[in-house]
Amino acid sequence: MDQKVDKHFSGKEYNAKEYWTERAKEAKDDLHAVCTRDVKGIRNQIMDRVQSRILSNFIKNESFAGKEILELGCGVGRWVPFFRQFGLKYSGVDISKEMLEIVKEKYPDIDFSEYNPGDRLKYDDNHFDYIVSITVLHHNPQEDQKKIIKELSRILKPGGKIFIMESCRSEYFTTFSNTEEEWEAMFAESGMRMNKKRLYRYFSVQGMLRSIKKIFKPEKVDRTKAGGIGGGAKDNEYSAARSYVLKLGLLDPYLMDFLPKRFYKGIIAEFEK
Ligand SMILES: C[S@@+](CC[C@H](N)C(=O)[O-])C[C@H]1O[C@@H](n2cnc3c(N)ncnc32)[C@H](O)[C@@H]1O
Repeated sequence: MDQKVDKHFSGKEYNAKEYWTERAKEAKDDLHAVCTRDVKGIRNQIMDRVQSRILSNFIKNESFAGKEILELGCGVGRWVPFFRQFGLKYSGVDISKEMLEIVKEKYPDIDFSEYNPGDRLKYDDNHFDYIVSITVLHHNPQEDQKKIIKELSRILKPGGKIFIMESCRSEYFTTFSNTEEEWEAMFAESGMRMNKKRLYRYFSVQGMLRSIKKIFKPEKVDRTKAGGIGGGAKDNEYSAARSYVLKLGLLDPYLMDFLPKRFYKGIIAEFEK
């Protein structure tokens, strides 16, 4: 596995289970547990809004009512109300017992269980109509991604679909990104074909202003210190200007439609078995 160390968190080499367990323990609120470690929350609101808009548009033609969905990496259950609104029967799995404790308390009527890469999930072959995973696979090294995808394919019905939202062009210390083609190939290895995809990005306003700044004052950006996704924002260093830029970022979900493709760093994709 790649050696990835979070200098601003525990100083330990990245391990998905330990990292997310610590994130669950230190969580100030739901978004803080699963998005960035920005305690002021604006970055997380931006991320949440971008993800919600992308996901809503992407799945809008599905006929979900009465079908079953599994969320891999359910975290603290941010997407439970979203999926249940369509009449889906929802179940969730997560690698972190602490995330599961939080989510079980919120939704005692839902089946949640622990899952680690390489485990056999407790579900029968061809069980689920849908599987969804939002920013989870890329938090696992590629050899684990392959094991997970193979197991997901086993429990998905023929004709069933998997939706993923993952990183396709950025490497932060917790992410193991793949290109669009690599994601497609990895699912193809487990017998699934990509039906459609869309690219997206977070923090467009911030990114644009950073690019402009670089033109006038080129400097090397240290992602471990820049408060990238999971990169450890030094929250007390937020200047008033930075906070203003972040507030402007609440427009990001709408800006995405106009950005040139090379700016996109995330991918949402649909795979069918
Ligand atoms: C970035 S958070 C996203 C949580 C949730 N999908 C959401 O969007 O709110 C990543 C989540 O995936 C879980 N996770 C990471 N690797 C996993 C794995 N291999 N299997 C199951 N869950 C995993 C973490 O514990 C954490 O809850």
